[in-house]
Amino acid sequence: MSTLIRNIGELVTNDPELGTLTGAALVIDGDAVAWAGPSARAPAADDAFDAAGRAVLPGFVDSHAHLVFAGERAEEFAARMSGLRYDGGGIRNTVATTRAASDDELRANLRRLIGEMARQGTTTVECKSGYGLTVEQEERHVRIAAEQADEVTFLGAHVVPAGADAGDYTRLVATDMLAACAPHARWIDAFCEKGAFDADQAREVLEAGVRAGLTPRLHANQLSAGPGVRLAVELDAASADHCTFLTGADVDALANSSTVATLLPGVEFSTRQPYPDARRLLDAGATVALATDCNPGSCYSSSMAFCVAVAVRDMGMTPAEAVWSATAGGARALRRTDVGHLGAGARADVLMLDAPSHIHLAYRPGVPQVAAVWKRGHRV
Ligand code: NIG
Ligand code: FE
Repeated sequence: MSTLIRNIGELVTNDPELGTLTGAALVIDGDAVAWAGPSARAPAADDAFDAAGRAVLPGFVDSHAHLVFAGERAEEFAARMSGLRYDGGGIRNTVATTRAASDDELRANLRRLIGEMARQGTTTVECKSGYGLTVEQEERHVRIAAEQADEVTFLGAHVVPAGADAGDYTRLVATDMLAACAPHARWIDAFCEKGAFDADQAREVLEAGVRAGLTPRLHANQLSAGPGVRLAVELDAASADHCTFLTGADVDALANSSTVATLLPGVEFSTRQPYPDARRLLDAGATVALATDCNPGSCYSSSMAFCVAVAVRDMGMTPAEAVWSATAGGARALRRTDVGHLGAGARADVLMLDAPSHIHLAYRPGVPQVAAVWKRGHRV
């Protein structure tokens, strides 16, 4: 069954040959894009959908989220807005509520969030564990994540559980916990920061993950200009996430690597930190992705459109760069070639805006602008 989406006002393909087209059409066949190009050359299809001049882009690729959790931390957010500093300490509160939740409660919350994301145009979701911090709990969380998320990351090294010794806990993560979790995950992550894991501990976990067949990504330079970004680059991590506090050497290291700089502006919004300097990274030649980091602590927003708007308003990105980073950039951060673009053969993940161009995502912040979403060729 094929569908021709015709009368597209602006088609952002992220395809190097097609680029962004005006007066375009797109053919979906089953779960894949069969054809994209100018309206005049559109092939016939079984069915037609009139875009009425609206803009069409690839579905958002949210390459960083923490969605297996129970409870929320609204009071912590309110306290931050009155001056409390974010230091990751609240993570342990979510660990307690998540440990106490049943499998079905965690599944239902995950389904709610992935549905909320899909209705806002996000068609690929990465999901981390990290609110379990025991072998049994972390295994349960990655297993539940794998039932619904497109990409699963084992983040046993999120924080050291209350009362535990950091060295002993790091060893547990890198041995028994990893062995239990690796079958359900593709990625290994750690929070490399003062108060969480230092560079040696993060390295121990990530290297063990690589030996177990996982690929590294890293929470790096979120609260200070620490060693995280350089460690991520050294280990050829798929992405270094946050990148809020960077030295010149960090920027150069990212620019001369295949490690994507994944920026999470919702976190800076929700923690009153300075926004990361996307312009500096782009000008140096780094690849930049935008993602939500959706979690109950540092950013409880699942909106990629919000990230795009902030990146344009406050991080020096053009609307076209921000949209690329929220789609193709996320795909690069997940080392995926089937999503984040709308060239022939891509997964049919399509976002139609209730607007004539991608610029409206930043130009009309906070306004619902999703007209239609297709995920794997199915209308959401
Ligand atoms: O990416 N920084 C570490 N982890 C999350 C926050 C988790 C939380 O506060 O619950 C982050 O910001
Ligand atoms: Fe995170």
